[in-house]
Amino acid sequence: MAMAPSPIFLILFLFPMIPFTGTADTAASCRDTCGSLQVKYPFGTGLGCGSPLFHPYISCTSNGTGDQLFLKTHTGTYPVTSISYTTSTLTITPPFMSTCTSMQTSPNFGLDWTSPFQIGSPSFILLSCPSPTSSLTINASPICDPSNNHLCAAIYTCPAVVALGLPLFPPISTCCVYSPANLNNKGELDLRSLKCGAYASVVSLEDNPTDPTHWVYGVSLKYSYGALDSNVVSSKCDSCEISGGVCGYAPPENSFVCVCKGGYNVSTDCCQYSRDQEDVWGINSSPLLTRYIWSLIAGPVLCIFTWVVFKFN
Ligand SMILES: *[C@@H]1O[C@H](CO)[C@@H](O)[C@H](O)[C@H]1NC(C)=O
Ligand SMILES: *[C@@H]1O[C@H](CO)[C@@H](O)[C@H](O)[C@H]1NC(C)=O
Repeated sequence: MAMAPSPIFLILFLFPMIPFTGTADTAASCRDTCGSLQVKYPFGTGLGCGSPLFHPYISCTSNGTGDQLFLKTHTGTYPVTSISYTTSTLTITPPFMSTCTSMQTSPNFGLDWTSPFQIGSPSFILLSCPSPTSSLTINASPICDPSNNHLCAAIYTCPAVVALGLPLFPPISTCCVYSPANLNNKGELDLRSLKCGAYASVVSLEDNPTDPTHWVYGVSLKYSYGALDSNVVSSKCDSCEISGGVCGYAPPENSFVCVCKGGYNVSTDCCQYSRDQEDVWGINSSPLLTRYIWSLIAGPVLCIFTWVVFKFN
């Protein structure tokens, strides 16, 4: 026996749906998350999302178990494990980087000169290098910082060093803290020419400078929008994100678009869409007072509806 839905329920249920008829069925093409990471400008989950400067280097693809953000450079593809939008830094974990629990021979690590990323890590710990590392040089300058030798001593207590062909508790004269780490003219940390077997990079010592099992491993990078993405785009983008949208651009001109949940794009923010609906409903041709009250109350309410409905869908 079918039960007739209560009319009040129907009105409550249908009212927020009205503004979205005909648009809500298109899936939004830009997402604001990738796996467990929040994705905001200048990062994007695909072509047309985020900033066009970042698109060639950043992708959101499956890692086998779920979606993950990756950074692509000429030396490899690296999972992004965290992003700080307030400090403009991100952390990547190169798959062949060494940690206390897993050490392995690493290929060179590099960044593309044309990309908006720079090394933000204070240091790299180069492992299994020719002894003594005090004679390691780049462009005739010594690169090892002896004041950080305690980090070498700490990481050489990890039993995983045997995987690099080193004995347990190897002499620290084969380890080097390269600080500050600069990339060479190919944009690389060139382990091959330094003849070092591996590297570790530490994002945080977690108040445990002597206990490498508690360190947080990863390579920290700084990013900058560059001159191309002016303040105009940033401020447009702020109001787009506040209205629940995702910032993007429309190729090939790459003009700014705000991609709203529900699959429609606007050139300002997602609340613009609710304002446009006032025209669709003929509100703008109604008497002045009605129009005035409407613009004061209904516009913002509709915008909040748009945001809430799609936020929690
Ligand atoms: C895949 O990505 C998810 C979400 O970012 C992450 O939690 C998980 O550890 C990743 N899996 C692998 C195998 O890296
Ligand atoms: C909205 O913008 C995104 C990103 O630029 C694009 O992929 C999508 O096709 C656009 N959708 C519409 C309906 O214009």
